[in-house]
Amino acid sequence: MASNSFQGKIAIVTGASRGIGREIAIQFAKKGAQGVAITYLSNAKVAESTVSEIEATGSKAIAIQTPANFDTATAESVIQKTLQAFSVTGIDILVNNAGNMSLYPMGQLTAEVFHTMFSTNVLAPLLLTQATLPVIDPGGSIINISSRAARVAVGGQATLYAASKAALEHMTRNLATAHAAEKKITINNVMPGGIETDMISTAPQAMIDRVKNDATAEKRLGRVDEVADVVLFVAGGGGARWINGDTISVCGGAAMW
Ligand SMILES: NC(=O)c1ccc[n+]([C@@H]2O[C@H](COP(=O)([O-])OP(=O)(O)OC[C@H]3O[C@@H](n4cnc5c(N)ncnc54)[C@H](OP(=O)(O)O)[C@@H]3O)[C@@H](O)[C@H]2O)c1
Repeated sequence: MASNSFQGKIAIVTGASRGIGREIAIQFAKKGAQGVAITYLSNAKVAESTVSEIEATGSKAIAIQTPANFDTATAESVIQKTLQAFSVTGIDILVNNAGNMSLYPMGQLTAEVFHTMFSTNVLAPLLLTQATLPVIDPGGSIINISSRAARVAVGGQATLYAASKAALEHMTRNLATAHAAEKKITINNVMPGGIETDMISTAPQAMIDRVKNDATAEKRLGRVDEVADVVLFVAGGGGARWINGDTISVCGGAAMW
């Protein structure tokens, strides 16, 4: 991939104040994106540091706070703020990366925790896709960050998270089938295994050890850049143009689990 392969592109990366999303957003900027909009939940200070790092590359950037309980107006406002901030009429790339991996033992599950989890992991990607489709440019790409947890049982406490990621993964297939041809875009999942971020550090040590030792070839967690590299490949068109409605695994060997 040429180093300037995102020259002139407009990208939105949700949940990009920290972790995988932050690395994806910065990599788009380093590869020449014209503007990168990031969203975050509550950490305005770290979101602004991502914005500063993007701007240091010469790209434009904006940070947009979005609530845990997502709705249609929020999705529309993310798109409108992005278009206005960069003085453009179209968007090239949407990466639905923001995720909620709260763990709940049986007995602590409620309708409220279900709705909060599904709001971030399923509803927000759906509504943002709906709001993006009218303004996405041909050749564009929508990428949803799924999880290996969508495919394997990682433990009872992660049941709700795993179900939300499975829903996201299948939603992606349907969205691609319905919209990719008409819009001339790709819509895919990128599916990480255990990656070194704040998120995984909240999991029980036994779960982290199992992911590292039983589910990777190198017996380690992945790094954020190892996920970002694949997201940029899929988003870049070019050699990834014939990947559509699909799920790209970035798990370091999780098929072994
Ligand atoms: N890390 C892993 O092992 C792993 C494995 C498989 C899949 N994934 C998936 O990869 C994605 C990124 O995970 P990560 O490990 O990078 O997470 P992380 O380090 O915990 O960072 C989460 C990011 O998402 C933001 N966020 C959380 N809820 C949000 C909401 N409702 N609206 C907007 N932003 C929100 C956070 O903002 P604040 O800073 O404001 O809180 C933060 O920027 C998630 O979808 C996750 O499920 C992660």
